[in-house]
Amino acid sequence: MSETLLDIKNLHVWFKVYGGVLKVLNGVNFNVKIGEKVGLVGEAGCGKTTTMKALLRVLPNLALIPEGDIFVRGKNILKLNSRELADLRGRGLSMIFQDPTSALNPVFTIGQQLDDIIKYSAGSSGQKVANKKNIALSALHEARLPDPERMLDSYPIQLSGGMRQRVCIAFAIATARDLLIADEPTTNLDVTIQDQVLRLIKDLVEKKGASLILITHSLGLARETTERVYVMYAGNMIEMAATSLLFKKPFHPYTQGLLASVPRLSGGGFAEGIPGRIPNYRNPPPGCRFAPRCPYAFAPCTKAMPPLIDVDDGHQVACYLYQNGQEDRRNA
Ligand SMILES: Nc1ncnc2c1ncn2[C@@H]1O[C@H](COP(=O)(O)OP(=O)(O)O)[C@@H](O)[C@H]1O
Ligand SMILES: [Mg+2]
Repeated sequence: MSETLLDIKNLHVWFKVYGGVLKVLNGVNFNVKIGEKVGLVGEAGCGKTTTMKALLRVLPNLALIPEGDIFVRGKNILKLNSRELADLRGRGLSMIFQDPTSALNPVFTIGQQLDDIIKYSAGSSGQKVANKKNIALSALHEARLPDPERMLDSYPIQLSGGMRQRVCIAFAIATARDLLIADEPTTNLDVTIQDQVLRLIKDLVEKKGASLILITHSLGLARETTERVYVMYAGNMIEMAATSLLFKKPFHPYTQGLLASVPRLSGGGFAEGIPGRIPNYRNPPPGCRFAPRCPYAFAPCTKAMPPLIDVDDGHQVACYLYQNGQEDRRNA
C-alpha cells in the first residue's frame, strides 16, 4: 500500500444562514494516496465542492467546522497557522474550478496572473523564484496552449471557453506537485473538448506523480479517468470502491440508481432515475439521509446514519442492508 496523502475524518461543515444553520457535511470520510487518481461523484448540492473548500481552507466566513479532522501528509491542516498553511499550499495543493471564467481575473493578462500564482506558491519560505517566466511558459506549453509567448499577453476575454479552461489547467499545473483537484473541470465545455481536457489533466498528473481528485457528475468520465471512486450523498460518502468494482457491482441503492439512470459509457446528468431530491440541510432526516428516497428503507434507516464499512475487500458501503448481518433486502 502506498503512503496516504490526504485523510479526511468525520468532517462536519455547517453554514450559518439567516434564521438557522445548514448542516451540510455530516461526517465525511475520504482519503487519497500519493499518486492516486480518485473520483468523487454525486448530485449537485451534495457537498462535493464544500469538502474540497474545507481541505483548501477557503470556506466562507459563515461556515463552521464543528467536528472532524483533515490530515495532509499526517499534518492536521485545520490546526495550522497561516504561515504553516502557506507552506503547505506552496507544496502544491491546487484546484481547477468548475467555472473557468470565475477563476480568471478579467483585468489582468494571463501572464500577470501566472506570475502571481507562481510567486504565491513559493510560500512563506521567501525563496525567490528566479525563472518565473520560464515556469509560466512551460505550464502553458504543457496545457497545450498554442503560442505560449503570445498567450502571456492575452486577456481572458480574448480566449475561447476551451482555451480558458486550458489556461486554468496551466495555472494549476504551474504549482501542483502533490494534489490537483479538478472540480467539474469540463462542465461548460462541449463533449469533444471535454475528452481532450480530461486526457490532458490525466497525463499531466501521471507525469508529475501527483494525486488527482476528479469531481464530476459524469460517471462516464470518472470511469475513464480514476482508479477509485467515492459516491457522495447529502453530506456523506455512502460508497467507495475501486472504479471497476463500483461499476460492476454497486451496493448502495443510491449508487444503483445513479448507474441505472446513466446511458452506458456516456456522460450527462444522472439524477433523473431516482425520484425525489436531496434533503433540506436545515432539517435533514435523522438517520440515513437517503432513506426518504430509498425504495429499500426499513426501520433502522430512520434512526442513525449507517457507518461506512468494508463489505467486500476494500469495497465500502454505508447502508444497513449490508450491516449487522442483515439479509440483502433488495431481493426480498
Ligand atoms: N456559501 C454558502 N452559504 C450557504 N450554504 C452553502 C454555501 N456553500 C454551499 N452551501 C450549501 O451546501 C450545499 C452543498 O454545496 P456544494 O458543496 O457546492 O455541493 P456540490 O459541489 O456537491 O454541488 C448547498 O446545497 C448549499 O445548501
Ligand atoms: Mg460543486
